[in-house]
Amino acid sequence: MIRPRRLRRTETIRALAREHHVRADRLVQPLFVAERESDAGPISSMPGIERFTIDGAAAEAKTLASLGIGSVLLFGIPAHKDAQASSNYDEHGVVQRCTAAIKAASPTTLVIADLCNCEYTDHGQCGIVNDRGEVDNDATVALLVRTALTYARAGVDVIAPSDMMDGRVEAIRSALEAHGYVDVAIMAYSAKYASAYYGPFREAAGSTPQFGDRRGYQMDPPNAREALREIALDIEEGADVVMVKPGLPYLDIVRAARDTFDVPIAVYNVSGEYAMLKAAIANGWMDGDRAVDETLACFVRAGADIVITYFAKEWAQRHA
Ligand code: PBG
Ligand code: ZN
Repeated sequence: MIRPRRLRRTETIRALAREHHVRADRLVQPLFVAERESDAGPISSMPGIERFTIDGAAAEAKTLASLGIGSVLLFGIPAHKDAQASSNYDEHGVVQRCTAAIKAASPTTLVIADLCNCEYTDHGQCGIVNDRGEVDNDATVALLVRTALTYARAGVDVIAPSDMMDGRVEAIRSALEAHGYVDVAIMAYSAKYASAYYGPFREAAGSTPQFGDRRGYQMDPPNAREALREIALDIEEGADVVMVKPGLPYLDIVRAARDTFDVPIAVYNVSGEYAMLKAAIANGWMDGDRAVDETLACFVRAGADIVITYFAKEWAQRHA
């Protein structure tokens, strides 16, 4: 008789038959970095995650490296916001300074910088708003290019545009080439959906739109074919890594992307996914360790090469 249960009898035989593994070196820890010390501190909807000062983020990167987490994804929380997001392309802006601080404290840490304007604009939209109240694609792309060059100059290893403007990967890639930053990689948020799961992040980063929403640029959740088209475009435009975001409700997209393209696929296990799990665990409704291990393994099983997750540090601590 064929008895699949034979391979499930003991942990040793289950380990032999196991198809996929989570590894610390494929996890990326997002870090929120506040320019003003008074903005640092805990985030109520994301227990265990905090807004670091620049020095705090550098120390955290070092701790993460010692746990085997070699990559961080930076989100800046600037002291100043305006309609042009000018603090984003400031040579001495929070991401630029934090990158230098991380490289000094932990030289091997790979610094990935999220590139968007919503944390830097006073209206909270991801780009320049025109007189009709719409986000202007090409003006926003020009701004992203300007900021990307300052990130590259500051030593950022990977630029991760999360704005969903058309043509931004091509524009950033050409500018990086033209200015000699040929080794700076682009990890594009290619299939980024207009999702309610970003709620806790917007509290953490202070980036809630003051009017309207992001549905004019982020993708419509029911669409799947369109995700493959977006990913194909970003690869053509020069993206080194493409991303699907959010994660858990979009594992079908991760699988389709893995089966269709040859570049590394990243998935972003976003703030709302983290908050849901943490809330259920805090209520005693789920076993925390098992739920987190299972969740991260499922991203790998779905085909993700890179998993961006707020659980990275605690996973690495538990599996050290
Ligand atoms: C900035 C950005 C967002 C996230 C990553 N980059 C928020 C948004 O688009 O509103 C979400 C990350 C998360 O929820 O963990 N555009
Ligand atoms: Zn944004």
